Order: sequence, then structure tokens, then C-alpha cells
Amino acid sequence: MNLQDYIAQAHEVEHEGVAALQSAADLDALEAARIATLGDRHGRVKALQEALRSIAKEDKPAAGKRFNEARQKLEALHAERKAALDRAHAPTTTEDLSLPARRTWRGAKHPVTLVIEEIEEIFRELGFTIAQGPEAETEWYNFGSLNFPPNHPALDAHDTLYLEKGGVLRTHTSPVQVRTLQKYEPPIRVLIPGNVYRRDFFDASHAPMFAQVEGLCVDEGISFVDLKSTLNRFAERIFGASRTRFRPSFFPFTEPSAEMDVQCGICGGSGCPACKGTGWIEILGSGMVHPKVLEAAGIDSERYTGWAFGMGPGRIAISRSGIPDIRILYDSDVRFLEQISE
Ligand code: DAH
Repeated sequence: MNLQDYIAQAHEVEHEGVAALQSAADLDALEAARIATLGDRHGRVKALQEALRSIAKEDKPAAGKRFNEARQKLEALHAERKAALDRAHAPTTTEDLSLPARRTWRGAKHPVTLVIEEIEEIFRELGFTIAQGPEAETEWYNFGSLNFPPNHPALDAHDTLYLEKGGVLRTHTSPVQVRTLQKYEPPIRVLIPGNVYRRDFFDASHAPMFAQVEGLCVDEGISFVDLKSTLNRFAERIFGASRTRFRPSFFPFTEPSAEMDVQCGICGGSGCPACKGTGWIEILGSGMVHPKVLEAAGIDSERYTGWAFGMGPGRIAISRSGIPDIRILYDSDVRFLEQISE
């Protein structure tokens, strides 16, 4: 190449390199322009350097001088643009990054959920599995299959919302006993947590919707001894080493029926406001599954027997935490939940 052509080429490389570096709007574009212009492998400056070899010896000093000018100019421009773009990307604030973050409220489990999970865990150890059923139930499952005769006074405590076509909002979790017995062969050991509905006022001790936990055990040779020993074991686990007592009771779906009380853990049995002065807290209803319930579910009541219980985990949450009014459990007031929840 002759000197004149070389100088013209150096001019062009320089000119186009300046344009490319200057038009790069961000760091990525600048890097692309650098590689195209000043890159070691395929950069145009590199090609210009290699072209020096073809210059006649006497013209080399002049060509080399022009080459150095072009390269230095482009390198300086690149450094300048890089510094400018770096500055534009640097954080411009003067915030104190060492300041501790504000504590965030991440939510927590509801006190009743905590009690349900604890009950589930205790019964899981005893070989029970979890079963669930619908909250919109049929009258037959909610009442008929459980041996409530039509117009029986026991229905009074179970007034609820009636839906279309013989449907009701279930008043207890007991219908899931029948659904489970229809679906599985004994031996059956299930725990049934769920929400239930009653036509009740919303006051300090009643709510129109609340949680229940039901239990059912059916097999050959199951007796009242199994009921008492299992429920005593449960009371021991959930309330500590408290004493229990069983009082005769009535439910249409159990015979015989019993209500279980645990000795009040707050006063130790001497009587206090938490146990209304009686020394005992009623925690569940229970009994031997009525043969008519087994038959309604298609189970041979001559061969199989069983026991069942039902309880309100909300009551346990209340007596545990000394909550004076159950409406607090429905408010979801963070200031309250923060004190009790985990
Ligand atoms: N279903 C009853 C209720 O809601 C509670 C109950 C009592 C359930 C005795 C049972 C039981 O399984 O054996 O009032």
C-alpha cells in the first residue's frame, strides 16, 4: 500500500471509530463499539496496524505516526465515554445502606388452626388419617343417616341455613363419618376437621360458623375401653397431665354417649372463672357409634363396632389463651394475632 492510501485509510478508521464510540448510548453498546474498533482480534485498528507491514521502508515512520495518532485518539475517547457511562449508572443517592430494614408482618397461623394442627398431630401418632367432606351437605347425611328422627328435639340445637333441594349447611362434621364408612372398608381410623354452621347469634360464646374436629374408629371388637383410653391419652397430650371425667349424655348417632371434661388447668380443679367455678372444662362429645349409623353406611353392625367424638378446637384455643370473647377469633386483628400466633 502506498503512503497516501494508508493515510486515507487511517483517517477513515479514526473517523468511523469516533462515530461508533460516541453514539454508544449505554455500556453494552460501548463495549460492542470497542470490540469493533479497538478489539484485539477483528478490530479495525488492529487491521490498520497489520497494514503497516505493506508500507515501503522509507514511508514507515510517517505511516506509523499516523497510526499511533488514530489509535491513541480512539483509546482516549473510549476511556472518556466509559467513565461517563459508569458515572451515569452509579447510585446517585446518599441513602444509608447499613440502616436495618423495617420489620415486616409476614402473617401467621390463626390460633384455631394451631390447635387443629396439634390435634391432628396427636391422632396421627395413634394411626388416624385425615378425612374431609362438603360444607354444603344433604339433609340425609347431616341428619337422617345419623339417626336423627324427623322432628326430634335434638334437631333444635342444629338449626341451620337450608339450601335448595334438601341441602343444608352442615351443622357438624359427623356426616363425614357416614361418607367415610361408605367409601372405605374397616378398619377405619379418621380425624375430620372442618367448618360447620348453626343458626346462632354472634355473641361472646356463640358464632354462626365455627370449626369442629371429629374422630371415628371402626373395626371388629372395638369397645368403650378403646374410646376412653384413646381420649384420655389425647387429653394428656394436649392439656398436660390433667384428669378427665366422662359424663353420660345423649346424641342420636351414639349409644351410649358421653361428654368428656378435663380438669381445669388454670385453677387445678378448685374452681375459677375459666371453668365457671366447676373445676372442669367440657371439651368433647363422644360415644359408641350407633348400629343404625353403621347400617345407614352399609356396614354390618353385627360384625363391626366403633366409637366417635366431636369437639370444637375454638374452645380449646379460648381456654388456653384466656380469651374472654370468641368474636376476637373472627376479627383477625393483627394486634391480637401477633400475641398468640406462631
Ligand atoms: N356432632 C356433635 C355436635 O356437633 C358432636 C359429637 C358428639 C360428635 C358425639 C361425635 C360424637 O362424633 O360421638 O354437637
